Amino acid sequence: MCACAWRRHAFTAALVLAAHLIKVLSCGETGSGGRLVKRYVGLYTGPYFDPSAPNNITAQLGTHAYLPCKIRQLSNKSVSWIRRRDAHILTVDRFTFIADERFQAFLVEATDTWTLQVKYVQARDAGVYECQVGTEPKMSHFVQLNVVVPKIEIMGEADLYVKAGSTVSLKCVITQALEEPAYIFWYHNDARVLNYDRSLVEIRMERIAPDTTVGNLIIYNPRREDSGNYSCSPSNLDSASVVLHVLSGEQPAAMQHGNAAARPVAPLVALLVALHAALALLQVLLCHDEDEPK
Ligand SMILES: *[C@@H]1O[C@H](CO)[C@@H](O)[C@H](O)[C@H]1NC(C)=O
Ligand SMILES: *[C@@H]1O[C@H](CO)[C@@H](O)[C@H](O)[C@H]1NC(C)=O
Ligand SMILES: *[C@@H]1O[C@H](CO)[C@@H](O)[C@H](O)[C@H]1NC(C)=O
Repeated sequence: MCACAWRRHAFTAALVLAAHLIKVLSCGETGSGGRLVKRYVGLYTGPYFDPSAPNNITAQLGTHAYLPCKIRQLSNKSVSWIRRRDAHILTVDRFTFIADERFQAFLVEATDTWTLQVKYVQARDAGVYECQVGTEPKMSHFVQLNVVVPKIEIMGEADLYVKAGSTVSLKCVITQALEEPAYIFWYHNDARVLNYDRSLVEIRMERIAPDTTVGNLIIYNPRREDSGNYSCSPSNLDSASVVLHVLSGEQPAAMQHGNAAARPVAPLVALLVALHAALALLQVLLCHDEDEPK
């Protein structure tokens, strides 16, 4: 009996406690809820940098770089961007303080982010940038900017010798490119090569790795007039070039191997070579026989 009474009391106590809890919660939601939120946010008494924003930015030469500075509770404090290399103040809020129009800062209110935009990034722009908030004392956040310079080259020698009639394949390889070129144009002595100029030209482009693109110019049955300077010119990079020499039938005999013009002579040459070899073999065999008895 005694144990039962104790249980009943405990149950009542739990009910009362639960009722109080519900009261407190509903009270928090309606009446003093705003105060609760305010006190929580008040853990930070002023602006603070949100660590979720990246602080190591990589941009490709010639593109635009965006350096973020995410600041919570900024209120009306000013934000400056400073270049670490020379301590040059680049921007203060929306104003640019450097005689270089490539630098510009803007605020994206939805994400509390003051972004420094660096247009047409150059190799010398690489380095550390400081985002400074005008509190007392000042608060700083650092962002590293890396600039990658894509490499471009046409595979093989700078001078390429081919026989007329053979197939030529020029491969232009672009590496360390964050952005794939929109297109690659090929030029032959400064005139653009179009694959409908001659049905014997083929132009291809393929991205073979996240940072590598290969452009290919194939010339089937090249003629002497196809000789000259070929350059590969991607939409977003410098060009690379190669000089093609197409050797025609008028070249010295030594360069005529496989040339169509040389073909009528070929059977006769082959016959002479075979005859010569046969005679040499006969001579060796005869001499050998003579030597044996000794
Ligand atoms: C920043 O990024 C670059 C390129 O992704 C990387 O090479 C470098 O090690 C990174 N630096 C730091 C400090 O994380
Ligand atoms: C910033 O706002 C505070 C009040 O919120 C005001 O007292 C102060 O003068 C303002 N500072 C500037 C630079 O506008
Ligand atoms: C080939 O043409 C390109 C583009 O016009 C030029 O930059 C390069 O110097 C030329 N190469 C030669 C060997 O003439």
